[in-house]
Amino acid sequence: MNFTEQSVVITGAAGGIGSALTRRFLSLGAKVFAADLSQQALDALRDELGNPAAFFSAAFDISDEARCQKFAARVRDDWGVVDVLVNAAGYFPLTPFDELTYEVWRKILAINLDGPFLVTSNLLPLIKRSRAGRIVNIGSASIFAGTPEQCPYVTAKAGLIGFTRSLANVVGEHGITVNVVTPGLTATAPVKKLFPAAALAQAAQARALKREETAEDLVGAVCFLASADAAFITGQILNVDGGSTFH
Ligand SMILES: NC(=O)c1ccc[n+]([C@@H]2O[C@H](COP(=O)([O-])OP(=O)(O)OC[C@H]3O[C@@H](n4cnc5c(N)ncnc54)[C@H](O)[C@@H]3O)[C@@H](O)[C@H]2O)c1
Repeated sequence: MNFTEQSVVITGAAGGIGSALTRRFLSLGAKVFAADLSQQALDALRDELGNPAAFFSAAFDISDEARCQKFAARVRDDWGVVDVLVNAAGYFPLTPFDELTYEVWRKILAINLDGPFLVTSNLLPLIKRSRAGRIVNIGSASIFAGTPEQCPYVTAKAGLIGFTRSLANVVGEHGITVNVVTPGLTATAPVKKLFPAAALAQAAQARALKREETAEDLVGAVCFLASADAAFITGQILNVDGGSTFH
């Protein structure tokens, strides 16, 4: 796969899956606008990547409409076009349902569902300028299992499927594809904090492929959906969970 001269925006770029994606897209020749909450985390990522000239960054909250508008204006001024958007930012705390407040519910929906809408809708005029725009949303295989401690998160990620399918129909006439990749339980930093090692080992044993899922496992699926080879695939879910769920 080759992304030379391609303009790729990745939200959640400083996170486990987002940073693996950023690294791979850069190595395949793309320039990457890495977006995340903290400029410090983005600067650390830039250093870790060896300070590449093709790395651009912006710190903002994807659930803040005004900040998303400002980000889109900056991308328009700096690049003028977006070929690939990967919505990878996400927030997935564990909360027992009977302790869930409306405030927490709203926050989780705002980041995981409103955020992809706000980023996508504001960047859409720039994606339409691409010859073959691609939008890849990072969903979650938790929508298949219905993880009980993540009710608002599962709800938001299920909503992201509806968003993807409807948007695919909206933007298809511009040659833009919209798809979802659903990771299984992936051993990134927040997951290692939330789940004891025994729970990750148990999840590995429950899969067809009996090992831990890593951020690297998601990269191939996302790059494929962003590539020219996936030009006729849209509105689809590509589940990457080592065979934990079948659908
Ligand atoms: N790790 C897993 O097991 C798993 C499983 C299924 C789906 N996912 C999804 O994959 C994506 C990446 O997850 P990860 O494991 O790499 O987590 P992560 O926490 O390492 O990365 C998520 C990134 O999103 C950023 N972010 C959070 N809220 C934001 C906001 N309001 N505005 C901008 N950025 C924000 C965080 O700062 C973080 O860098 C998420 O969408 C997550 O829901 C992860």
